[in-house]
Amino acid sequence: MDLGDEGYLLEITEDLIVISANKATGLFYGSQTIRQLLPASIESSSVQQGPWEIATGTIQDSPKFQHRGVMLDVARHFFTVNEVKRYIDFLAYYKMNSLHLGLSNDQGWRIEIKSWPNLATYGGSTEVGGGAGGFYTQEQYTDIVNYAAERFINIIPEIDVPGHTNAALASYAELNCDGKATDLYTGTEVGFSTLCTNKEMTYKFIDDVVRKLAALTPGPYLHMGGDETHATAKEDFLPFVERVQAIVKSHGKTMIGWEEMSQSTLIPGTIIQFWKNAEYAQNAVSQGGKVIMSPAPKVYIDMQYDSTSRLGLHWAAYIEVDDSYDWDPETYAEGIGKEDIIGVEAALWSETLETMDDIEWMTFPRLPGIAEAGWSPSKLRNWDEYKVRLANHEAFFKIMGIDFYRSKTVPWVDKP
Ligand code: ACM
Repeated sequence: MDLGDEGYLLEITEDLIVISANKATGLFYGSQTIRQLLPASIESSSVQQGPWEIATGTIQDSPKFQHRGVMLDVARHFFTVNEVKRYIDFLAYYKMNSLHLGLSNDQGWRIEIKSWPNLATYGGSTEVGGGAGGFYTQEQYTDIVNYAAERFINIIPEIDVPGHTNAALASYAELNCDGKATDLYTGTEVGFSTLCTNKEMTYKFIDDVVRKLAALTPGPYLHMGGDETHATAKEDFLPFVERVQAIVKSHGKTMIGWEEMSQSTLIPGTIIQFWKNAEYAQNAVSQGGKVIMSPAPKVYIDMQYDSTSRLGLHWAAYIEVDDSYDWDPETYAEGIGKEDIIGVEAALWSETLETMDDIEWMTFPRLPGIAEAGWSPSKLRNWDEYKVRLANHEAFFKIMGIDFYRSKTVPWVDKP
């Protein structure tokens, strides 16, 4: 039986439940399925009355794609270790295996780098709207990494370069071409900042940061951003990307970059994250690269559900729950087929999100459908069938205290 590294076989008879798998990951996913098959009250933090009934039967299950994740932007607004852990719990329940943390942006730098201390202490001291911001110490970051690993989730840290770097440019004057530190920034414009790509100091800075992040991150990937570099001349951007790839490789990691990086020459292994422009993703594929699918009009879960949504943006689309379910990663972008794709990743940018409730309201109920796009064969995915299964997750959302959007597209079981 071909269960691969993440698959499992679950056999439930009247006497016994048996989970079989090649690897511990599969046993973990089998146990998540048992959680989903039992009444949601098993998730309660207080003792509940049974009966704890589960249907008999056999399930053989394994994921379609090796990468199933969410990008959480902790830079525009900062979220605490406990909030990130709660998010990890949600990902685990839906058998996702990657949490990509956006650790730097114009508005904040969120990870302690001891050789460049101002990045966190000054660059991390605010956020969108001017709040207090924050950062993770190296010990706190390691705590997140370990908590995720216990749930078979890999942390992918992102330091976005050369654009989206105002927090670093404000923290260290020497990173600026004119030698003057910028002011901290608490607005929501994009595309105005750039590292000074012609200064050697810039590469020393990146090397120091990458060395530290590589040492703190057991997973194979470091994400180096590369999106929306409108303030960087193209003739500077292309060689910059080559040098950054070499730095990441020299510290033993595989680089992921947003799709714009594919304009440069990619080294073998570099992964490109598609979000908007199929030509960039095709560029990556034509160089032998693999792609993570994050189409903004489907899986940017910071997008509003509709024009009445109290949170979120809508530059890519309004994304109702059925819209975010109803797409196929294998056919979405012209020229990008199943063999080119390592997986699916939702993105939760946090310009408008300040609290854990805000995060949950954007994430739920879209997350389970995106998890399914990463897991299930296309031919088994059908909105009319799925929406009924999704409605049954309401009990889980409620018992977990999840603040979710009560979309009219879903036939909820409980009426409010
Ligand atoms: C992006 O949305 N700027 C990757």
